[in-house]
Amino acid sequence: MLLLRDGQAPSTAIHRADYLAPAYWIDTVHLSFDLDPAKTRVLNKMTLRRNADVPAQPLKLDGEELNLARVLVNGQGTSFRMEGEQLVLDNLPDAFELEIFTTCAPVKNTKLMGLYVSNDSFFTQCEAEGFRRITYFLDRPDVMASYTVTLRADKTKYPVLLSNGNLVEQGDLDDGRHFAKWVDPHKKPAYLFALVAGQLVAREQRITSRAGKDHLLQVYVRPGDLDKTEHAMNSLMYSVAWDEARFGLGLDLERFMIVATSDFNMGAMENKGLNIFNTKYVLANQATATDTDYSNIESVVGHEYFHNWTGNRITCRDWFQLSLKEGLTVFRDQEFSQDLCGEASARAVKRIEDVRVLRTAQFPEDAGPMAHPVRPDSYIEISNFYTVTIYEKGAEVVRMMQTLVGNGASDPLGRDGFARGMALYFERHDGQAVTCDDFAQAIADANPASDLARLLPQFKRWYSQAGTPRLHGVGVYDAAARTYTLTLNQSCAATPGQPDKHPFVIPVGLGLVGPDGGDLALQLSGETAPAHGPRTFVITEASETLQFVNVDAEPVPSILRGFSAPVVLEFDYSDAQLLHLLAHDSDPFNRWEAGQRLAVRLAIKSIACDAHETRANPLDDAYIEAMRSVLRHPVLDAAFKDLVLTLPSETYLAEQLDVVDPQRIHAVREAMRQQLAVALQADWASVYEANHENGAYTPDPLSSGRRALAGMALTHLCLAAVASGDKVWPGKTLQRFKDAGNMTDRFNALAALVSSGHPLAAEALPRFHAMFKDEALVIDKWMGLQSGAPDRGGNVLPAVRQLMKHPDFSLRNPNRARSVVSTFCQGNPAAFHRADAAGYVFWSERVMELDAINPQVAARLARALDRWKKLAEPYRSAAREAIARVAAKPDLSKDTLEVITRALAD
Ligand code: PHE
Ligand code: ZN
Repeated sequence: MLLLRDGQAPSTAIHRADYLAPAYWIDTVHLSFDLDPAKTRVLNKMTLRRNADVPAQPLKLDGEELNLARVLVNGQGTSFRMEGEQLVLDNLPDAFELEIFTTCAPVKNTKLMGLYVSNDSFFTQCEAEGFRRITYFLDRPDVMASYTVTLRADKTKYPVLLSNGNLVEQGDLDDGRHFAKWVDPHKKPAYLFALVAGQLVAREQRITSRAGKDHLLQVYVRPGDLDKTEHAMNSLMYSVAWDEARFGLGLDLERFMIVATSDFNMGAMENKGLNIFNTKYVLANQATATDTDYSNIESVVGHEYFHNWTGNRITCRDWFQLSLKEGLTVFRDQEFSQDLCGEASARAVKRIEDVRVLRTAQFPEDAGPMAHPVRPDSYIEISNFYTVTIYEKGAEVVRMMQTLVGNGASDPLGRDGFARGMALYFERHDGQAVTCDDFAQAIADANPASDLARLLPQFKRWYSQAGTPRLHGVGVYDAAARTYTLTLNQSCAATPGQPDKHPFVIPVGLGLVGPDGGDLALQLSGETAPAHGPRTFVITEASETLQFVNVDAEPVPSILRGFSAPVVLEFDYSDAQLLHLLAHDSDPFNRWEAGQRLAVRLAIKSIACDAHETRANPLDDAYIEAMRSVLRHPVLDAAFKDLVLTLPSETYLAEQLDVVDPQRIHAVREAMRQQLAVALQADWASVYEANHENGAYTPDPLSSGRRALAGMALTHLCLAAVASGDKVWPGKTLQRFKDAGNMTDRFNALAALVSSGHPLAAEALPRFHAMFKDEALVIDKWMGLQSGAPDRGGNVLPAVRQLMKHPDFSLRNPNRARSVVSTFCQGNPAAFHRADAAGYVFWSERVMELDAINPQVAARLARALDRWKKLAEPYRSAAREAIARVAAKPDLSKDTLEVITRALAD
């Protein structure tokens, strides 16, 4: 594809099929930085050698927004030319030294890619293609070099000077400056380079690994934040121990550093030995962070640490292979968090939460204009492909591989087989830049007798075909023959560039639930004896039939247990069957799922109905009584109850419909909340009493679950009070807000007042701001709560515009921009999709404004209208107009242009 418009340089798509090995290798890199916010000088001294495997050709180095001062080959001046932004050198010897002097302006770098300034400190971000904004280089992941880095800067302003690897020398220079020299013992691609310079302090921890080696762990933050680093450090220590225990992968560095910055485009970055984090995923204490923050920090610290092997030791050959490191590392962080849960019920809660993210964010992506395979075939701007498909669907693909190397008897979950596969992957590829194929091959080869090995070529369609498969099931019970026949048909809708799909390999976790609620022993026709325990059937054809024999009574099938594959399961359950699963299914995922299906069904019926009466009372008695039983259940965890009682999100509901009226969806879902609030009022009150506590705070899964459920109870009690005029619960909630001993309880109380629309919110909100005015991450929450508040007569947009005038607001800080603008446009459908189109106008203004500051953040926001074609009128036409307005802007970044062009494509 070629995007060409008047007055604009063409943006050409890069294709996976065009991969060529580099013309040169870079073996060593010596970088020297004279750090200055306005003008930083960079000397880059490299040794290169020609790649004998490819035909001789000029050396083309990538560069972006650099001022080039001098180029020397073997110490001599040389001729060079520019091809666009690339620096091109012809007639080079086979091996040589190349020196390049450039300068750049970190303080002007609002894109936050390359070298930039945040709170008077220097940071870098190089993935995917930021290193070229620091110096000219072969900025591609298959060029791996040894780095030596010397940093020079003013000693009082920048007392701490960090880069990858080991500190080998430091000292003072003239004029109040000092220097530090770092050597990275590991070869790495440029995207893993990092430097940090500034006024920072560190929490330190020395650890001894299983192998008996000593390591220094450090978490660097700004001086006032040291009291918020304990949880990140603990998470890091757990991560080190977990990777040793589960995969035999130890820390390969003497020193491992995490540095927090409040200006960061993403969550965090796995630079070798010097991870750089968004403060959101480092800083926590009980006064400022919620349980969700604590658990996100644990996952993200784990994620970046696990990259040290999956990503850094073995990296990607090219950026099409991004999921090689990201899907695998998300899978690893999910498993890590589950393993830290301990209890099986807490593991299941984590699984449900992960699937919820997949289904509310990735499924829509896979059905919209940005749909792409886990291993894409082409892109215009790689930054646009750090997506939920690459990350979360990629993790599901790895999870299915683990399942498919399982062996019924000795390794039912496949963990041992998968660990063997990982060992072989490292044996074969440590130190290399490889492909998704290499990974899958290693896992399969280590398990030659497995389903994965048998089905590998077909399994790999998960990497090449985009779109969410649908699995349609039909069950027939034959009482006379005592058989139960389950037919499963799979299909997958067309996605951009892929009209026809071939069948996938789909592992289907399956149980048959008997009338007493217990699992039946399963015996396929042809099998000699029934087998107890969980079973997984592997579906490979467009249509397959499983016939079970010796079935004494009609069972309810529990299909896709544990969400064993990233597909949409369609099965025409009766309400009674779903209620049965909700009450009894031994698989917690499907037990939760049964409740969700009931709620989706009631919501859709109501959304489709024109009678106002039904729309005001979407829930029936059976559903309400089932929810009451869950709330009152003596054994179920609070966290699980919280998940069951949480209605499917408006976004999830929208995905179940062909034509979307966001206002109707919102009205129906709000009516459902209201019904649950009023009908279960007494239960909510007892749940609150039983689950709120004032004891010591620990963010473990059990007490977090109790706090979540207590918070949910408060919200419903406030909702009921708004309807009845009751003053007691809102008063209690305000008191709770004032007295809470931790941020989770305080924020939940505040959110209950805001989300129920109670007037006391107007008292609590300013109070909250005053309490936390110096805590940037809490101010983000405060703004986000208001941008994400349930819309009442269109009141949210004016509030959002007002927030943008608040002295604390800045569009330049990605966290702040996201908390206000993205929360409104991407997290609050009913407030955003206004019949007067004012939400879309606001969106187009912000996309264009942000695009000039930070194209990555703009392009993410641009995706808010991905699904515009599904909208009902008048939304659909108004959305198209807004997108066209953005498309017409002459100097759009290629990031935003790619998203917008895809949105408008047929
Ligand atoms: N590689 C980072 C991670 O997933 C994400 C990231 C991508 C951060 C690009 C910054 C820029 O761990
Ligand atoms: Zn990652």
